[in-house]
Amino acid sequence: MKKDYIKENKNAYDTLAHEYENRNYAVQDDFYQNIMFKDLDFTKGKKILEIGPGRGARLKNFCDYGLDVTAIELSSEMSKLCLEKAPRAKIINKNVFDCEFKDKFDFIYMEAVIHNFPITEAEKLLDVIYNWLKDDGILICTTTVDEIEKEGYQEKQDYDNKIKRFRHHYTEESFKNLFIKHNYKIKDKKYKEEIDKDRKKLWQILYLTK
Ligand SMILES: C[S@@+](CC[C@H](N)C(=O)[O-])C[C@H]1O[C@@H](n2cnc3c(N)ncnc32)[C@H](O)[C@@H]1O
Repeated sequence: MKKDYIKENKNAYDTLAHEYENRNYAVQDDFYQNIMFKDLDFTKGKKILEIGPGRGARLKNFCDYGLDVTAIELSSEMSKLCLEKAPRAKIINKNVFDCEFKDKFDFIYMEAVIHNFPITEAEKLLDVIYNWLKDDGILICTTTVDEIEKEGYQEKQDYDNKIKRFRHHYTEESFKNLFIKHNYKIKDKKYKEEIDKDRKKLWQILYLTK
């Protein structure tokens, strides 16, 4: 398998980009602003890096807060959507493992992305981004709550286009332990419930520090 998952994921998200853009989202902007970002100090000019922004909805929020916004997005189709929504953001259309930064970030944001990596690669990624985070920086990372930990190529059930991408499923325990093993401290935890006709998912949101 090795790096094949990157190729498969790029192809899947290039193909799904317009479905992502046009779907109805059960959780709207106000959840992010009033709950998810509520306790974060998004003072103008603070530096945020989003990894895997997809269609760019959160990038737009980050720009609206006046943050200094950088994003790394594997899919070229998703990157185009990001540029349309958040023209002020610096969008890097690359695999995250091919990126380097001189400056460090106040925030690193990964929503629904960590689970696209096999566990061994997710572990490498956590070590890489540890060095991109300022000493008092915060990593925000989300995935679904699953009852059994497992991984492999999987079709996206809630999209019309039944294309496969790599998916790791975490339990609450295994998600927490992933970060603890890589020297992060858990600062806070929140949940996001997505319940509509297509999706019935519970998401776990971890806020992590060094
Ligand atoms: C499930 S989507 C989530 C998109 C968005 N964060 C959201 O919550 O709607 C995962 C995104 O991560 C991107 N991605 C996956 N692997 C990546 C990698 N190795 N480097 C950069 N981006 C990656 C995909 O192209 C896709 O846009």
